Amino acid sequence: MKILVTGGAGFIGSHLCDALIERDNDLTVVDNLVLGRKENISHLLGRSGFEFIEENLLHEEGMRTLFKEGHFDMVYHLAANSDIQKGGKDPWVDYDLTFNTTFHILQLMKEFEVKKFFFASTSAIYGETYDVLNEDYGPLRPVSNYGAGKLASEAFISAFSSTYGFQTWITRFPNVVGERFTHGVIHDFIHKLQKNPKELEVLGNGEQCKPYVYVKDLVEGILYVVEHASADYNVYMLGSDTRTKVKEIAAMVIEEMGLDATIRYTGGDRGWVGDVPEFRYNLDRVNTLGWKAAYTSNEAVRLAIQKALGK
Ligand SMILES: NC(=O)c1ccc[n+]([C@@H]2O[C@H](COP(=O)([O-])OP(=O)(O)OC[C@H]3O[C@@H](n4cnc5c(N)ncnc54)[C@H](O)[C@@H]3O)[C@@H](O)[C@H]2O)c1
Repeated sequence: MKILVTGGAGFIGSHLCDALIERDNDLTVVDNLVLGRKENISHLLGRSGFEFIEENLLHEEGMRTLFKEGHFDMVYHLAANSDIQKGGKDPWVDYDLTFNTTFHILQLMKEFEVKKFFFASTSAIYGETYDVLNEDYGPLRPVSNYGAGKLASEAFISAFSSTYGFQTWITRFPNVVGERFTHGVIHDFIHKLQKNPKELEVLGNGEQCKPYVYVKDLVEGILYVVEHASADYNVYMLGSDTRTKVKEIAAMVIEEMGLDATIRYTGGDRGWVGDVPEFRYNLDRVNTLGWKAAYTSNEAVRLAIQKALGK
């Protein structure tokens, strides 16, 4: 297939590119490198069937040319703002990068008659709830601008899919960890400890408890869903039904770095405004389809720390 991957120079997107290239697809990656890095895909540059275009998805003319010349069969749309805290400080960030990039891509798919669409969604669309989350859970009340941008994206994707006949796969990820991450709790802890090996500041009380999934596992899950779910409109939770506490992550990072640091909690039940203290996933739908993550949440966290430390 001729595939366009948006945000393909980012953390998850670059791993998705690796897996799509292995499956003999022709890939075009579009990314403006606002959060991604060219090094993430440097091993793919120059390979036949792989092209990288540095472009902003919101740049009308450049994107129309790309679609006109690309003759894509499918779009994997991963470009978004992944810095939730930054989006909390400036609502335009998620309006533009998380929502409007999606709307632009949908418009281009309609105009250039691309009929298959994958969207990277998130647990953040659910907001703050202590219930077990599944695909039919509601009402959806995001508490971050990022979650709102993703939920608004899902609404337009649903409407475009039914009005213009796209076949669509949406997967909602929890926290994703592994090589090439650009952000997230493990990334932050390692950087803080590199600066001060004696003390680790942890935002909140450390009791925040969430599912973590290893990035290569997640990518296999994405492709499994796209290859096996055959409805016109497919929505799947992807990840792990096990969870890890932030204080466990802190302890694992300190241990893997071979340090004896003390942990200082800033207090409160969450890391920042827009963070949620905990959530959990029901994965019955994807398990019934035939996919299960290879690693538990704790195993994924441990593996990601070791990979980040070059072990
Ligand atoms: N990492 C997670 O834990 C997680 C969890 C749930 C959902 N997701 C979703 O998965 C996707 C990938 O996330 P990630 O963690 O790899 O983040 P990332 O920031 O590493 O990747 C996003 C990429 O999009 C690019 N991008 C952003 N705005 C753009 C624009 N206007 N034009 C072109 N490129 C643009 C960035 O440069 C970056 O390379 C995102 O949609 C994110 O919301 C991630």
